[in-house]
Amino acid sequence: MHHGLDPASSLSSAGAALSAAALGLRALPLAGGLFGGGRFDGQVALVTGAGSGIGEACALELARRGADLALIGRRADRLEAVAAAVRATGRRALSLPCDVTDHAALGGAVQAAVDGLGGLDLALANAGAGVNGRLETTPVEQWRRQFELNVLGVVSTAQHCLPHLRARRGRLGLVGSVMGFLSLAGAGPYASSKAAVRSIGTTLRLELAGSGVSCTTIHPGFVESEIAKVDNDGQLHPDRVDRRPSKVMWPADRAARVMIDALYDRRGDFVFTGHGRAAAFIAQHAPDLVEFILRTAGDRATNRPQL
Ligand SMILES: NC(=O)c1ccc[n+]([C@@H]2O[C@H](COP(=O)([O-])OP(=O)(O)OC[C@H]3O[C@@H](n4cnc5c(N)ncnc54)[C@H](OP(=O)(O)O)[C@@H]3O)[C@@H](O)[C@H]2O)c1
Repeated sequence: MHHGLDPASSLSSAGAALSAAALGLRALPLAGGLFGGGRFDGQVALVTGAGSGIGEACALELARRGADLALIGRRADRLEAVAAAVRATGRRALSLPCDVTDHAALGGAVQAAVDGLGGLDLALANAGAGVNGRLETTPVEQWRRQFELNVLGVVSTAQHCLPHLRARRGRLGLVGSVMGFLSLAGAGPYASSKAAVRSIGTTLRLELAGSGVSCTTIHPGFVESEIAKVDNDGQLHPDRVDRRPSKVMWPADRAARVMIDALYDRRGDFVFTGHGRAAAFIAQHAPDLVEFILRTAGDRATNRPQL
């Protein structure tokens, strides 16, 4: 159950204003976008949250570019379906059902991936969910669940994978969000968890300097997935209407292409969609303006139905 404002509506209203304020700013084509398609032939990639949405699309994109896949998530049937699609491309796939908030179990899954596929070249800490609601009314247990998954799940994935990535001068990817740059009324748990991911990525880049291992923090804007159908307690509601603004939402396969390009290019922070880049840019360079716009949009969103 969600509490408080509707962050999707709030962000939608704010998005229009922010886009206008962006004075026509458009995402410039990046090296990966222009010359993308970098290959991972014979490399081993591990993806958490690989059973749906962005994680599934990234796993399939990595397979298309020649990588073998270790797939992590809780629903074994979903992982097995993705594994079958990976194998259909001619690559190997291991489905390793596991909860990323269980540090010991995740360690076992990472070791099984390394043993089964012969090492690790890339790890994408993607598993996550959105807890929304006002700070005052969202139960602390839901806040805890949010941080255990979105923050500690990422830390745990990094801790288990980095020794193997160091051995191969590999690539680590963390999935944050444009919400890591913005705060919205009613989105405190999610936004603050993603701000933490952003900070962790920066920290890791400093700590990995000279190791040959890159850490790319990827901050998506709106992407088609199951995220809006999962409630604050982690329950999936397949019939729930996704009220995020469909006009600015990217299909997951398009998102995966630019994400894998960013990982290939060993970028630092990588923000996409065009609207997401505009929002993050303005949030960084004109925070007072953004707060003013969001406060106004938030007031209007107060009377809207909740997610
Ligand atoms: N879609 C967007 O617009 C958007 C925007 C910005 C950022 N993101 C981020 O992108 C990432 C992927 O989300 P998505 O949009 O693709 O949503 P999604 O379709 O709901 O995918 C999330 C995946 O995480 C897995 N997961 C959830 N809890 C887990 C746990 N405790 N242990 C292991 N796996 C777990 C889920 O599988 P199981 O339930 O089977 O475990 C699911 O496959 C998230 O970090 C999200 O915050 C998404």
